[in-house]
Amino acid sequence: MKTLLISGAAAALLSFGLISTANADKHAFNDAESAVDYRQKGFSLIRNNFVAMGEMVKGEVDYDAAIFAQRANDLARLSHIPWQGFIVEGAQPGNDTDALPEIWDNWDDFKERAESFISDTQNLAEAAAGGSMDDIKPAFMAAAKNCKGCHDNYKD
Ligand code: HEC
Repeated sequence: MKTLLISGAAAALLSFGLISTANADKHAFNDAESAVDYRQKGFSLIRNNFVAMGEMVKGEVDYDAAIFAQRANDLARLSHIPWQGFIVEGAQPGNDTDALPEIWDNWDDFKERAESFISDTQNLAEAAAGGSMDDIKPAFMAAAKNCKGCHDNYKD
């Protein structure tokens, strides 16, 4: 059994607006492993959608407005998913995770990055609904910056 430390950041996480519970001390997971697994699967689905859109943005695959818009909508919804899996502070290296302990040392910065990712994916979904690649491309690039920016700081 891994020791679970419920982060003091759990309260701060409520301001994410992502946690459905009204109780700041509660989180959705029984143990660190399931929290890690959940967030990694969320990121994995994020990548699937992101890569598929990237192929259209780069012209490697023909742009299909309906498929792109569906991907962008799914991404916008998925952008909310991984963060709940970070509330369990014990879910750090040694638990089959690439998440760096710096996340919990710089919680406000991590949270801001997550929030800007969420809003940039929302912008991308709105651009995609318009159906013009001229609008989509800059919105896609803006969303893409979030991945590397956060990974460089917080992912092994
Ligand atoms: C605010 C920070 C943050 C943002 C933004 C972010 N990631 Fe990550 N990502 C992480 C962290 C932290 C991990 C490590 C999770 C773990 O292993 O527990 C991770 C892991 C991953 C993984 C590996 C999942 C697995 O199966 O182990 C993929 C793929 C990934 N991210 C893709 C993306 C893509 C694509 C984007 C942008 C569209 C993105 N991420 C945006 C922080 C972020």
